[in-house]
This record gives sequence, structure tokens and C-alpha cells, in this order.
Amino acid sequence: MSDPTRESMNDSRRSLPLLRTPGHGGRSPMTCLYRCGNACDHPVPNQSANPYFGDLVNAAAPVSDAAVSRRGLIRAGAVGALVLGFGGAAAPARAGTPAPTAPGAGPARGAAPRGGRPAGALSFKPIPPNTLDTVIVPNGYDHCVVVRWGEPILPGAAQLDVRNQTGERQSRQFGYNNDFLAVLPLDKRGRSALLVANHEYTNEELMFPGFTGHDALTVDQVRAAMAAHGMSVVELERVDDTGQWVVVRKGPRRYNRRITTLATRFALTGPVAGSTWVRTAADPRGRTVIGTLNNCAGGVTPWGTVLSGEENFNQYFVGGDAVPAELKPKFERYGITTKARYPSGSRKWERADERFDLAKHPNEAHRFGWIVEVDPYEPDSRPRKHTALGRFKHEGANVIVAKSGHVVAYMGDDERFDYLYKFVSDKKMMKGDSAAARRHNLTLLESGTLYVAKLGFTSAGEIDGSGRLPSDGAFNGTGRWIKLVSGDRSYVPGMTAVEVLTFTRLAGDAVGATKMDRPEDVEPNPVTGKIYVALTNNSNRGVGSNAPADEANPRNANKHGQIVELTEDGGDHTAESFSWSLPIVCGDPADPATYFAGYDKSRVSPISCPDNVAFDSSGNLWISTDGNALGSNDGLFATAVEGPERGHLKQFLTVPPGAETCGPFITADDRSVFVAVQHPGEVSGASIEKPASTWPDGDFAKPAVVCTWRLDGGHIGS
Ligand code: FEO
Ligand code: CA
Ligand code: CA
Repeated sequence: MSDPTRESMNDSRRSLPLLRTPGHGGRSPMTCLYRCGNACDHPVPNQSANPYFGDLVNAAAPVSDAAVSRRGLIRAGAVGALVLGFGGAAAPARAGTPAPTAPGAGPARGAAPRGGRPAGALSFKPIPPNTLDTVIVPNGYDHCVVVRWGEPILPGAAQLDVRNQTGERQSRQFGYNNDFLAVLPLDKRGRSALLVANHEYTNEELMFPGFTGHDALTVDQVRAAMAAHGMSVVELERVDDTGQWVVVRKGPRRYNRRITTLATRFALTGPVAGSTWVRTAADPRGRTVIGTLNNCAGGVTPWGTVLSGEENFNQYFVGGDAVPAELKPKFERYGITTKARYPSGSRKWERADERFDLAKHPNEAHRFGWIVEVDPYEPDSRPRKHTALGRFKHEGANVIVAKSGHVVAYMGDDERFDYLYKFVSDKKMMKGDSAAARRHNLTLLESGTLYVAKLGFTSAGEIDGSGRLPSDGAFNGTGRWIKLVSGDRSYVPGMTAVEVLTFTRLAGDAVGATKMDRPEDVEPNPVTGKIYVALTNNSNRGVGSNAPADEANPRNANKHGQIVELTEDGGDHTAESFSWSLPIVCGDPADPATYFAGYDKSRVSPISCPDNVAFDSSGNLWISTDGNALGSNDGLFATAVEGPERGHLKQFLTVPPGAETCGPFITADDRSVFVAVQHPGEVSGASIEKPASTWPDGDFAKPAVVCTWRLDGGHIGS
């Protein structure tokens, strides 16, 4: 192979000194500044006095696998499977766009055992924790860089030239800091695909030579940063009959697309569209927003579109000190400072576009913080922001089709002490891939019911913040989905439906939702229908006047995070009650305050700060990390969640220093694992001239997408 970025465990590797000065959750202070505007240094935005335990019925039976109807779950999965092809996505039928299911695309969900080993057993040998400046995969696997920041992807695009980047140049190149990934089928034979990537944020110190501060950036550079945010769609092709995928570099590439904060227009849908809260001087009708901000995780819908979460949108705005007094508590609840003109680390985007100055345009901030839907199969289609799914720091959204045919989106609000949500559509999904079905399904997220989670506990009196397992042997309980709004009807006293959806955090406060340790990805397992929630960490849990540990968030000053497994009552995703447990409490397995579903801890890999989750076709849980409070590089892990291997967590991959592992995506043929390597070399003191990582090209660090496959062509893991 000639790709110079390709390395295996046997290649020589650079081991850079560990420059990282730990910030919060094991992240570099530089990451804290750029990614979320030093959120952890600000007061916890949730100052509500929600009760924190014991006010629900505490008589939950222990979570039982049998509580969910297997038949119902298979059927629920099968509703999606009718249109699920490669990569868990639907490829819509239309002229020139073939049906999705590729011959040889691998076993159906829940396939029979192969080769004497249980179906889906994870056989790879785990890799050790390390601090190497490269991507490491297990023996017998290989990887390549698929696409990196600045690569030309649209016609006429220039090569990356860090001394001459402008908004116009960057608008034709792959964006910065790739996060969520989806790989969607583009032909029947499994030879071509669409890569869809989020570009969450920029780090100007690592992008522009001679950086001395945001005030000193040229307007061209500010516009380049705005264009480096957003999303990309890139055509891929398979290499021979392997699990390796590369970018298509010749031909028309009609699906390639950039969505940017600079120029792309989004339509607002749902109850908030057109309301006074989202009207601005530039958009007096309140229906069209330019751009999307801080797109973190996302999901692929069963009808073949991509959802993307607008997360830390607060940090792009200045002038919060000048907003009307009655608005200030609303801004503060979303982390927008109202005490100073410029928040710490301000990007000064208002120098290029005054709408980021809230003193002039206070409603502009209300036009971000939504779930975005993009149709990658229609390169000219206008993306939409669905207000019916609420406004908060959306990590992402993942949809499953309920037995009834309604679609259900699970979502997390990634902030310390914020909440878990779900949305149930008013309409049912229409099966098939006719044009009528497609038109109908594109409206499913425009109206429905939004719920927030309130958890109950079985062992509340035993939780002391140490992480010690309760005497009943489980962190577990029941829970309720509390209805916030349904269509135009509010269920929150004192708030209209439009207010509930625009200020959803305040609605969650009002109904006493359960404060969680940074809910990131929330994703249904397509095989079992159970929901998995990654809670990354919470340095403030139990600190000062903040809420103390509870059974779902059982450690004070929680550095390592945990995984929640949630089972809807009756296996019905539209149910208003559920049971839950913690299968994994992360950290060093030698630490007694960790738990791996009761599996022999001497055989599991250490893991810290779970962030994004994904599933292979056997329903194994794959977890990527953001921050490693144990001192080694971030990575990707996998474990079975059913059967005797439940809790046998193994590390599959690591990324370079300073980087976060994002967007894991396992193709439905189980032959390729994609990850987004986000913010490599983001270590305080580093710059483009003095990089803390030179991955992937040996010069300076570039965020990039990596594809991993098995050398013998077999299925990942098994
Ligand atoms: Fe962008 Fe919640 O991580
Ligand atoms: Ca318990
Ligand atoms: Ca994330």
C-alpha cells in the first residue's frame, strides 16, 4: 500500500512527550476553550432545585432481559430493516439512485453463528493504552486516512494553503474537526457510498500560522473558520473486495457537498418556525437561518437522511450583557454569558457578521441549538432545523421505528446536570421507497410529542458518591418520560408550547427532570431495542452546592463517566415508562468504583469518558471516548451487551495525542469501522508551527476520517 499515513502495530511510530496539561475530564485546556468555551469553568447552567432522588416509585424490579418482547423487538427492528441497507441507512429509490441492499452486504441483524463461534463474538485482541502519535488498530487489521481537513471536495476547489485560507476556499474543502460520521449506500453492489461528516468547531491556533489572538485574525480568516464549520458529503468507493474505502477523486461526484455556517440556508420547521422568538432583522418571517453551529453527533434515519445536533452554540455569541433584562435568565440557562460583552475565548465572529452580536440581534441565538436534518441523496435540498425536537445543547438524535409505526428520536443535552429527552412523531412512517413515502417521511420530525426523563432508584439510601455497588447488585431503577409538549399543546405550567420548545432546558427544570452527568449519544440497539446512553463525566457532581451522586450518576466528582441501558416498558418505544441500569461504570478496572456488568475486571480494557456509541449488526456496543482521565490517548472500544460476554470491554483503536475519537460508524456488512479523529494535537502550547501531533501527514495535525478493516477481509470483531 502506498498511503504514507497507513501504519500498523509493527511500523515504527513516533511517541511524543505527553505535553497534555490535564484540563477537565482529561481534556487539554485548549480543547476546553475551543470546543465548549470553557463550559466547565463557568457556573453550572442548571441551577434549578430539582429533586435528585427518591421521588419516584422506588419499587422497580431489577432490569430483566426478558422484560422486552424479543418478537416485538425483532419486529421493531424489522420495520427499519425493510429499508435498512448498508450502514443502517436507507437509500431512497429515485431515478439514478439504486435500492440500498447490496449483495454480500453481510448477515442480517441477528444472523446465525458462523465458524463455531457465537454470532457477533468480538474476537480481536485488545490494544493496550498508549500515547503514540498515530492511529493504532489490533493485529490483523489495517487502517487508512479517508479524507482530512482542507482536501478539495467540490469542483474548482483549491488545495489547503494555511497561509491563504478564505471563506470561499474553505467552502469547497473538507471542513475542520470532523465529528459525527455516516456512510450511506450509493449502489446495489456495495461499491460506492456517501460519507456524511459533521464539522463541530475550529481551533484557529492550529489552523493559521502566526496566530496571536482572535482579534488579530483577518476577516478572511474568520470567514474561513465559519466555512470550516458545518457538514460535508463526500462520495466514496470500495478498494477491490476489501473493507477499505477511499474518496472518489475523478468524475462528476454529483453528491459531494459542503454545508457551512457561512452560507447554507436552513428552513425552520415545527411550532417555533415563524414565532417572534426566531424573527430577526435579516429574517423578519423567522423561517430561514443561515448556517449551523457546533454540529456534534447525529444519526441516520430509517428513511435515509442524516440528523445532526447543534451543541455548544452559545460560545459564538457576544453582547449578552446588552440583551433585555427579562431575557437574561434564558440566555444564562444556555451558557450565554450576560455579565460581560465578550465571553472568555470569544471567536469574534461578529467582526465578519454582526448577527453574532446579541446586543444588535438578540434572537439570533434562538435560531441555533436545534436538530438538523439533511438529505445527502439530494445535493440541492435545503436542510431543515426541526423545532419540535426542542432546543438545547443537542449532542445528536437517533431514531427507531416503534411497533406502532411512529418514529422515536432519543436525544441527550450534553452539559453537566442536564437531561435526557425523547420525541415521538405524530405521524407513522410510511414503508417502502416510493416518492410518496419519501415525501411523507421527510415530514415525520415536524410534529410530535417531546418528553424528558425522570429516573427512579432502587437503592437510593446506599448511594454515597463512592461508586460502591449497592447491596442489590445493581445501579438500577425505573423511570418515566414526562410529557413537555405535544404539537401546539404545552404540558408545562406557565410556558406556551413555543416557549417549551425554544427554552426546553427551563421546561425540563420546571418538571423536575433528572440531572445527568453530561448525556452525550443516546442510541437504540437495532438488535435488542434497548437504549444506550453515554454519560461522559461530571467534575461538579456532589461538589459544593451541586446535586450529589444518585444511583444513575453514582460517583461524586465523576471523572470517567458511565453507560446507561434503558429498556422501554413492553419493548414499546412510545411507552411513557421504562427501566434502566448501568452496565458499565467507566475507569481503570483496578479501581473498585468501576463496574463492567459483573465481568472479570482483570480481562477488560480501561476506559474513560464515553461519548459516542454505535452498534454492529450483532448488536455489540461500540463506544468512543472524549478525554481520558487515565492519561493515555482516546480510543474506540467494543463489548457484547447480551450473553456471557456482556461487559467484556476491549479496546479496538487509539487516536493521536490531544485527539478525541468521534463518529464511530460500522457498516452493516460489518467489514469496515469508520472513526473521526477530531482535534489531534490540541494540547495547550501547541500551534501549527509547533505541533503537538504531526498526524496524519508528518507536517502538522489535521482532523481526519479513518477507515479500519480486517486484513483477511472478514467481519470486524468476529
Ligand atoms: Fe461535542 Fe458532546 O460532544
Ligand atoms: Ca439498585
Ligand atoms: Ca460528542
